Amino acid sequence: MTHNTHTNNEFDGKVAIVTGAGSGIGLATARLLQERGASVVAVDRNEEVMALEGPDIAPLVADVAREDSAARTVALAIDGFGRLDILVNNAAILLNKAVVDMSLEEWNGVLAANTTGAFLFSREALRKMIPAASGAIVNVGSYACYQAFPTLAAYASSKGALAQLTRASALEAIEHGIRINAVGAGDVVTNLANDIKADGRKFLAEHGMGAPIGRAAEPREIAEIIAFLASDKASFIVGAVVMADGGMSVAIK
Ligand SMILES: NC(=O)c1ccc[n+]([C@@H]2O[C@H](COP(=O)([O-])OP(=O)(O)OC[C@H]3O[C@@H](n4cnc5c(N)ncnc54)[C@H](O)[C@@H]3O)[C@@H](O)[C@H]2O)c1
Repeated sequence: MTHNTHTNNEFDGKVAIVTGAGSGIGLATARLLQERGASVVAVDRNEEVMALEGPDIAPLVADVAREDSAARTVALAIDGFGRLDILVNNAAILLNKAVVDMSLEEWNGVLAANTTGAFLFSREALRKMIPAASGAIVNVGSYACYQAFPTLAAYASSKGALAQLTRASALEAIEHGIRINAVGAGDVVTNLANDIKADGRKFLAEHGMGAPIGRAAEPREIAEIIAFLASDKASFIVGAVVMADGGMSVAIK
């Protein structure tokens, strides 16, 4: 295993899976964990993830909503790097549709990617982490874990369910020494809204100005919280949704 010269090598010898690692927060998280010593399996349905290939990063093109993807990903971590310590369930999609206009396929597609994917990957990871009696899972939630907006029913439902998956699975896992938490991200300048807005990055940057902090975040600011929750520094945090949203969940300006 090779390491860079970063002075913070808190993830030395650890192996992490990051889903949705081809873009935005997932990409920043994969890079940050790798910089700090981890070996990373980087999963995305977008083939651009293959560009991450390196000695400490094994990319995989897979759809998290498919049941076989989790098994393939965990097998790659174990076969390639010998163990699994961290899972970051980050992959998600956004849908901008009123309930009355939404097809069942659209609803199911959002829930499958954003919630069922996290369940499938958590299940597969826990099957390795429980016998090892250690590990950490971080789910990437949103202020939409709590708040709702018109035309975001599917996305908000998926993130509300993810918060409850976080809490319930955390209760099961902690008796095995495994911590499961979530980060509740605010607006972050990524490609998430590209399919629903002409300029999705500009939209997220402008929407972030409505938070008390007056701006959207850069992906690295969320990756830092994910890394913290995955690290031993967060040893007493269990089943929490830690808000990193510039105050958006406190008050929208
Ligand atoms: N950007 C924001 O403002 C914001 C706010 C709150 C929460 N979040 C959350 O942050 C997480 C990361 O999103 P982002 O903002 O970096 O968006 P992004 O679109 O830049 O990245 C998401 C990645 O997930 C991948 N992905 C989507 N569905 C997938 C699937 N079924 N299988 C595998 N990969 C899949 C995409 O290809 C993409 O590379 C998501 O969970 C999102 O809900 C983002």
